[in-house]
Amino acid sequence: MRILVLGGDGYLGWPTALHLSDCGHEVAVADNCARRGYDHELGVDSLVPIESMQVRVDAWREVSGRSIEWYFGDLVDAGFTTEMIREFRPDTIVHFGEQRAAPYSMIDRAHAVYTQHNNVVGTLNVLFAIREVDPEIHLVKLGTMGEYGTPNIDIEEGWLDVEHNGRRDRVLFPKKPGSFYHLSKVHDSHNIEFACRVWGLRATDLNQGVVYGQETAQTVRDARLATRFDYDAVFGTVLNRFVIQAVLGHPLTVYGSGSQTRGLIDVRDTVECIRLASESPAVAGEFRVFNQMTESLSVAEIAKVVAGAFEGSASVEQLDNPRVEQAEHYYNVRHTGLVELGLQPHLLSETLIESLFRVAQRYRDRVDVAAMRPSVDWRAPSSPVRVRDDSAAQG
Ligand SMILES: NC(=O)c1ccc[n+]([C@@H]2O[C@H](COP(=O)([O-])OP(=O)(O)OC[C@H]3O[C@@H](n4cnc5c(N)ncnc54)[C@H](O)[C@@H]3O)[C@@H](O)[C@H]2O)c1
Repeated sequence: MRILVLGGDGYLGWPTALHLSDCGHEVAVADNCARRGYDHELGVDSLVPIESMQVRVDAWREVSGRSIEWYFGDLVDAGFTTEMIREFRPDTIVHFGEQRAAPYSMIDRAHAVYTQHNNVVGTLNVLFAIREVDPEIHLVKLGTMGEYGTPNIDIEEGWLDVEHNGRRDRVLFPKKPGSFYHLSKVHDSHNIEFACRVWGLRATDLNQGVVYGQETAQTVRDARLATRFDYDAVFGTVLNRFVIQAVLGHPLTVYGSGSQTRGLIDVRDTVECIRLASESPAVAGEFRVFNQMTESLSVAEIAKVVAGAFEGSASVEQLDNPRVEQAEHYYNVRHTGLVELGLQPHLLSETLIESLFRVAQRYRDRVDVAAMRPSVDWRAPSSPVRVRDDSAAQG
C-alpha cells in the first residue's frame, strides 16, 4: 500500500512512517517543520536530539534498505498539498500535520488564530485534494480524546444513538473540548464527516489519548532515527515530564488535585493502530471513529506509577491548575474498535517504563528545568510565556 504521512517530522509521524515502511508499505512523509519553529519560538528543545529529515531518511535507507520519500511544504498551501498528493498517489493519507499543544493555542489571540487556521485550513486542503485527485484515497486523521471533554455520560466511539421526543437518530457525539487547539480538532471532525457524507470520501478519525514513550522497534535501530521527547510545560505530555522530574530528583508536579482522568496510549501502540486502521480502510462514504487509547488513569495515578517504578525516591508537588478543567468527573470511554482490528495493547503497569528512565538519564544534562513550570494560564488574556520576540506566531 502507498501511504503518505503528513506531519512526518513530528513526535508520532516519524516513528509511524518507519513502522509502516518496515511492514512493507511504500511511504512518503510531508512536513513544513513548523514544530521545530515552535521550539525556537518558545526557547525549548526535545530532550533527545533529533536529526534533520534528510539525515533521518538517509539513515533509514542505510539501516533497512528501504526508502521513504520526503516532501517539504505547508498543508495550508493548497497548491503544494494537491500536487504532492497527485504526484505520490497514495492509497492512504495519515494526517498528523497540525499544531497540537493545547497550552500553545491558549497563549494569546495570535496563537489561537494560528492554531485554528493551520489545522482547519490544512485539513480542508487535504479533503479537497483527495476529492480532486482520487476520492478513493482513505484519510486516517489524528483527532484527540480531548475533543469530547469530560461528559457525565459514557464516551462512545464518535457516534451516539439518541432518542428524543419519541424519535431515534444517530448523531456525532456531542463535544465539549477544553482549549482552542481541541476545538480545531472538533471543527476538523465535522468537516471530514461532511466530506464523507456529501462527497462519498472514506475516513477514519482516531481520537487519540495522551501518548507516552520514546522508543519503537524501528527508532532504536540507529541513534539518527530517534524521535522527539518533549517535557516542557507547553508541548510535553504529563508522563514524560514526570519521568524527567523523577530522574532529576525533583517533585512530580501535579496540577490541582490530580483527579483529572485522561486516556493514555503507548507510542508503540499508536504506530500499530495507524497500521491497523490503514490496512482495514473505512468504506466509501463512511466516517469511522475509533477512540485510540488503551487505558484511563488520573494524573495522580500516573504520578504514583512513575514514583513507584523509579528506583530512587520521588515526591509529588501540587501546583495551582493553570487550565480550566473539572477536577472531579465521570470518565468512561468505549475503546474496542482498534482491539477488534487486532491491537494488543501495552499497558502502563506492564510497560517498559525503565526505557523512559534510561532515556531521561542519558540526556539529563540537556534538561531545562524552568521550561517545566506551567507558563500559560487559561484565564489570562495573554500569558507570560517565554516567546521570543523575533518569531511571533502568525495570525
Ligand atoms: N502527542 C500526543 O500525545 C497526541 C495525543 C492526541 C492526539 N495527537 C495528535 O497526533 C498528531 C501528531 O502529534 P505529535 O505529538 O506527533 O505532534 P508534533 O507537533 O510532534 O508533530 C506534528 C507535525 O506536524 C507538522 N505540521 C504542523 N502544521 C503543519 C502544516 N501546516 N503543514 C505541514 N506540516 C505541519 C509539524 O511541523 C510537526 O512536525 C497531532 O495531530 C496531534 O493532535 C497527539
